Amino acid sequence: MNKLKQALVSGKKIIAANLKSNLTQKESLSYLHDLSGKLACKSSCGAHDSSVVVFPSFLFPNEYEGMELGAQNCYPALSGAWTGEMTLIHLRECNIKTILIGHSERRALGEGDKLLREKFNFFAKEGLNIFYCFGEGMEVRDTGKVSEFLSKQLDIVDLSYPNLTLAYEPVWAIGSNHSINITELNEVVELIKSKGEMPLIYGGSVGLNNASMLANVCDGLLIGSASLNVDNFIKIINHTNNKTT
Ligand code: PGA
Repeated sequence: MNKLKQALVSGKKIIAANLKSNLTQKESLSYLHDLSGKLACKSSCGAHDSSVVVFPSFLFPNEYEGMELGAQNCYPALSGAWTGEMTLIHLRECNIKTILIGHSERRALGEGDKLLREKFNFFAKEGLNIFYCFGEGMEVRDTGKVSEFLSKQLDIVDLSYPNLTLAYEPVWAIGSNHSINITELNEVVELIKSKGEMPLIYGGSVGLNNASMLANVCDGLLIGSASLNVDNFIKIINHTNNKTT
């Protein structure tokens, strides 16, 4: 069983930080050292009990205690003439085994179903942990066709792939300060859980105010802006463990 599934079986939540294109290389390094130190300390005090994943904007060696580093993007090839893209050799060099696919910000940049399918197939063959992001825009929600839309987005990936984590991120909730309500999230959780046993996490305007409530109805959280500050991120992790410090 992979580490993330193992974490879930033992009742741990997956709490992931998507740092997007924020923080310089120097700032990212200091973020990782700081977070790792604080997580290690919390673990030894028994206060932290989550599976923490961080997606920084650069690749760094995956060697930080208390967390797993992932890649926000990677081209589905071993190496080659793909100007501006990282490829598998770069992930391997850093021992990165986790990748984000399908984030709405990459879809908005033109990443379509064909490339997403290629990425999924390529990285699944490599056995990587794949976080597949999916979610509807407000225009879809307005038409009441959310489940049809989400089901179509999920057709891209093989839901029986054992190292798959689904990250449900409604586009209208990302960076908007307007997260989903529990009833709406529950409807999506029910739909997805009827399709398989993969972990399902939620992302979109998660903060200290709503993290614990949202994490209660799914397997964890994918957090953007509220993860950029280490102390705030640690507080969120502790809130999802029902701790308040
Ligand atoms: P947000 O971003 O938490 O800033 O809304 C989440 C994401 O895009 O993964």
